[in-house]
Amino acid sequence: MLNANTNVKAPSYDLNEGTVHQFCHDLLEVDGELRSLADTRDDTTLTCLALEMWSAFSDTLGKIESCLQDNDCGIAAIDVPSIYDDLTDDAIAGALVSIALTSSLMQPAKDIENQTPFTMFSASYKSDEALNQAGLLDISPTDILGFHSDGLVREKELSVPRYISIYNTFINYRNCGNFYWIPTNSVSNLSRHVESIGFDDDFIFSLTPTIYGTAGAKIENVVERKVQTSIFKETDDGRITTFINGTFAGKRCGSPDYTGRFKAFQSELSENPFRYAAAQKSRRMIVLNNANGFHARDIFEDPIEGHEETRNYLRSVSKNAVKTGHVM
Ligand SMILES: [Fe+2]
Repeated sequence: MLNANTNVKAPSYDLNEGTVHQFCHDLLEVDGELRSLADTRDDTTLTCLALEMWSAFSDTLGKIESCLQDNDCGIAAIDVPSIYDDLTDDAIAGALVSIALTSSLMQPAKDIENQTPFTMFSASYKSDEALNQAGLLDISPTDILGFHSDGLVREKELSVPRYISIYNTFINYRNCGNFYWIPTNSVSNLSRHVESIGFDDDFIFSLTPTIYGTAGAKIENVVERKVQTSIFKETDDGRITTFINGTFAGKRCGSPDYTGRFKAFQSELSENPFRYAAAQKSRRMIVLNNANGFHARDIFEDPIEGHEETRNYLRSVSKNAVKTGHVM
């Protein structure tokens, strides 16, 4: 667990089982067969699922949207009930429901490789071992992640997506701990850090590498990128969006050493007296106003034996994003 500061339970919502059942029957079953996740590549299908989801759960989704827009909040957890007896069908239906939920709350960017409105990540003992042996920290499900915002690279442009959603299809650990969230509004001494670091756009970060081909034990391709970016950026609505991701590698121009200032900000976040916590669990979706806060999570502990895969999750980022920099 992260240190014991004040954790406030993040707003969480259950979806009515009967209504989800009806949604699955009416929209996810075609001629008695369940749709596949790949169907969501089609824009017409995705829009239809999003609109139907909104009309089925307009009350709940309205509340979630209010949480996301609230400067003092910005997070919500949504639990998707189990619908089918068949475990595979149930996992696919849960994931499709989460994609429909996500698309009703944001316009998701397409995954570059698969053209899906999400990226699927799966981890296994073998892939964890391979990542750790390669010295690639902060990627496997058991690594500690400090408070950060998620970035999005599109060609040469670097931005901070306004919204992100993460749906855990399954987590095969007994102790899953919490997902944590600090709204920018609640960061202690924020203005002092903004003043000390400033709005310049020539800070260098090495991004957490993107890994391809980790289905088995072999890492086929590791893409490491350096970016030049603002850390703090004032948006049109007067809010401050922060890019904080990967490893800080200094400032391109100007003599003062910013490493100390950046570290002071990182410590402020990890010691912040206020944060939201949402338990990490299977079939739970967590949606964030990523451009308006910072997230971190506990490591997973005590794996449940007998499963090759340790975790599977879907992650979506919104097209709506705040541009902060570029790839070098
Ligand atoms: Fe993240």
